[in-house]
Amino acid sequence: MPIYTSSQYPFRVEPPRVMGEPEKDWTAYSNRNPVGSYRRTFELPGVWNGRRIFLHFGGVKSAFYVWLNGAAIGYSQGSMTPAEFEITPYVRPGNNVLAVEVYRWSDGSYLEGQDMWHLSGIHREVFLYSTGPVRIADFAVRMEADPAASSGQVLIRPWLEDAEGTDITGWTVGGQLYDPDGRAVWTEPLRQDAGSILNPDYSAEILNERTPQRGPAKFEWLRGTVRNPRLWTAETPHLYTLVVTLNNAAGKTVEAVSCRVGFREVRVEHGQLLINGRPVRLYGVNRHEFDPDYGQAVPPERMMEDIVLMKRFNINAVRTSHYPNDPRWYDLCDQYGIYVMDEANIESHGVRGLLANDPTWQAAFMDRGIRMVQRDKNHPSVIIWSLGNESGYGPNFAAMSAWIRAYDPTRPIHYEGAQASADEVNDPRDPETVDFISRMYPRVRGLYEQPREARWPKILQMAEDARDRRPVLMCEYAHAMGNAVGNLKEYWEEIYSNPRMAGGFIWDWADQGIRRQTADGREYFAYGGDFGDRPNSKDFCLNGLVFADRTVTAKLREVKKVYQPVQIEAADGGLGKIRLTNRYAFTDLNTLEPRWSLTRDGKEIQSGVLGRIECRPGEQTTVSVPMDLPEQLPAGDYRIRVSFHLSEKASWAPAGHEVAWEQLPLRYVEPAAGLDSAVLLEICVTEDSDAVRVKGQDFEAVFSRQAGTLCSLMYGRREILSPQGGPVLQVYRAPTSNDKAFGKGRARDWRQSGLDQLTRTVQSFQVRKKTADSIQIQTTAVSTTPTGAGFTHQTTWTLRGDGSIESANRFEPFGSLPPLPRLGVVMRIAGDYEFVNWYGRGPHENYADRKASADIGLWSATVEDLYVPYPRPQETGLRTDVRRIRLTDASGRGLLIVSKKPIAFSALHYSAADLEKAAHPFELTPRDEVILSLDACHSGLGNGSCGPGVLPEYEVKPEPVELHLCFSPCRVGENMDTAEKTPRKYLK
Ligand code: GAL
Repeated sequence: MPIYTSSQYPFRVEPPRVMGEPEKDWTAYSNRNPVGSYRRTFELPGVWNGRRIFLHFGGVKSAFYVWLNGAAIGYSQGSMTPAEFEITPYVRPGNNVLAVEVYRWSDGSYLEGQDMWHLSGIHREVFLYSTGPVRIADFAVRMEADPAASSGQVLIRPWLEDAEGTDITGWTVGGQLYDPDGRAVWTEPLRQDAGSILNPDYSAEILNERTPQRGPAKFEWLRGTVRNPRLWTAETPHLYTLVVTLNNAAGKTVEAVSCRVGFREVRVEHGQLLINGRPVRLYGVNRHEFDPDYGQAVPPERMMEDIVLMKRFNINAVRTSHYPNDPRWYDLCDQYGIYVMDEANIESHGVRGLLANDPTWQAAFMDRGIRMVQRDKNHPSVIIWSLGNESGYGPNFAAMSAWIRAYDPTRPIHYEGAQASADEVNDPRDPETVDFISRMYPRVRGLYEQPREARWPKILQMAEDARDRRPVLMCEYAHAMGNAVGNLKEYWEEIYSNPRMAGGFIWDWADQGIRRQTADGREYFAYGGDFGDRPNSKDFCLNGLVFADRTVTAKLREVKKVYQPVQIEAADGGLGKIRLTNRYAFTDLNTLEPRWSLTRDGKEIQSGVLGRIECRPGEQTTVSVPMDLPEQLPAGDYRIRVSFHLSEKASWAPAGHEVAWEQLPLRYVEPAAGLDSAVLLEICVTEDSDAVRVKGQDFEAVFSRQAGTLCSLMYGRREILSPQGGPVLQVYRAPTSNDKAFGKGRARDWRQSGLDQLTRTVQSFQVRKKTADSIQIQTTAVSTTPTGAGFTHQTTWTLRGDGSIESANRFEPFGSLPPLPRLGVVMRIAGDYEFVNWYGRGPHENYADRKASADIGLWSATVEDLYVPYPRPQETGLRTDVRRIRLTDASGRGLLIVSKKPIAFSALHYSAADLEKAAHPFELTPRDEVILSLDACHSGLGNGSCGPGVLPEYEVKPEPVELHLCFSPCRVGENMDTAEKTPRKYLK
């Protein structure tokens, strides 16, 4: 049974034992330590006769014994690095029987307490290979290039092994490098006598030269020079192929091994992370190795999907949180260009720093660090070693760091747990065993008002503190649980403001949801507890920028925008002057095609392609967009959009793919004031004790005195409203995961203040002014919380004969209230009006603090598509900065809503209460009606599910606010000229 826990071990804690009796309701109580027994038979090919045979396991969790043909072969643990056994003496001709016994828990599980689904079994490759008696047991390579890249050095260090005392006189080890086009770099391969490398007699001369009595050992046995090497960076992932051969005395190659390599240098200097001498920032994500159908055995197609998505969404770095990944992942990172922070498989969160300080655990720590470095040392993509995650700090980490540093001085070391003690006032420096000051979920500058934010460090402050000069990075930030990733823009404004800020890794890439079906066949993503697993950490495993099946969300779209490599701003010096900042570290902007487009009210009126722009990495330039605007502009909202596209196809996207863009406001020309010249149409008003009916040409509106609002609105012969009608005040939203923050967040304040239990009373309903062609009605309703605070909502309605209804609302909060989810009205619209067009931000959902990626335009969608099926339902579907909304039926008839000031809206088949109640999307039954929310203001999202909450500038303060809406009929053929861009359907 899968068990999802965040920091708690799902077995009884008494290290190193795992078999003690846990709580009675825990999964591990009755399933104390499940054992998987595997048997597989195989035959060896005849050509392997007389050769050495090795059995390789890529990853087995958590511990296992191996038998071959009944003979015990060995044991291993450490589930994320390979284990190899030589089985030469045990194999036989014909059938061989391999048996493996896998234990779910072992003492190793104390170091595998990562926040993830706890699964067990053989989750990576298993294979056999054979070699001759003398073999290349391993090799390491270093690729050095001078800063001007006029020449490079390839340093190769092979390890040889001989099982039988073979006479290897005259044997050699060869090395050849092939360039990215597949051509051999050296006319003659490099050669080195194999006997000296093997040194079977322990010749003192060789030992002295290689591993002298004093001072460092010599790394390379073979060295070659490359002229004008092409350098590897995430932007330019030029890969060479290195082939190392073992050749016998006759010159025949008896073994050849190869790997792809790249020239690149990593250094930490002057508080910056330098790649090939240039400062680089990490636009990163954390990635768990997880697939909704295969768990930790992620299929290669999924890895491909991940890497292509990451590249397309401007991500340049991955932290392999929190263990070494499948080796194929690193091959893809090498090939496509992703910087990797490779992390050792150590997390003892459940016992904090206990084991890091226990000498009896030192060997286990070292083993995990060394095995990672040994396996991944030749990958150009790996630029940082990370010692593990959330396991405190102590000598066992110091030992790992020292070993890795001495073994591989070419890469810096990271570990977030290595921090100065909190009470250390005079020396705030983190231990010297790490090369970065790394923090999780820090705050940006700004006054967070809630005391609960105080525990999150202020990241910029660290970069500004000159007492420690290391680069500052966020190994986790922007916790993407549910509808999240607020104020990403503000994080990056801070990062760009200080050269020591090296960037960060968002938590995290994909939801860890397990695809399941309900009894009646509806698909969903399961989270903690859905299997009856105990204990569990519920939906805390769903923190992805993409859903578990990699459906792209608005969160990822925002990441693409904020991580974009070209920053585009309006410059001084007139309309159309644009300042560009090249945020690439190695790429000139002349490799991209710049385009522009000018829109008026969302309709393109001019567009073009700019000539090539020369702008070197890290530099700025100014360009002019050749618009042609008349002096006298017709009324409208004028915006210019500048975008940068791949001019050539890349391995991860076609030519034309947009990598960066910005929409800049140009002018807003108000429509001429005064009533429109339309004929004033007569109305007829009838009043009784229950209702006021207003009839005009082709419309009838009915106000209920008791409800103090509209209860029916007929345009033509069609009812627009559903029975409950509206608008009425709405301040609540279905709490997001960030709002909830595990019971400690803003949602608790909202509930404690009773915002979810308002009682509404209509205080007055008055027909104020009647003329032949208009009527004015004034309503006042008061909504109170159980504690006596609340809101006065006053509306002045003006109805005209043409069917237009102006609704001027004023909301006045009173009493003690916390910052609000939203302040606006909700209306219930008849189910026929399924088609939505709007002029405002879109096409994807956007919130006050997550809208950088959402352009203002004319967008359209169905109500069904406006709902985003977060695997744990919550507030969704908002669009901000909206001035016009049209809701129509299939024939184009319906309702038009115009607001003078930009508002936020959502249109869903669910109410806030519906969304709040459901624990999974399948528990929601779409209403026939449309719940239309029109907000004067709506709170931002923040990062509160694990990190700081909403920044004060994005909160909705309980202060008086106005909302001015105008409703009118929408007739067939009368449309808003939408660009008909529909957001991608969220359900695949
Ligand atoms: C971090 C931890 C991650 C994950 C995250 C919350 O503290 O390193 O593994 O638990 O919090 O989702």
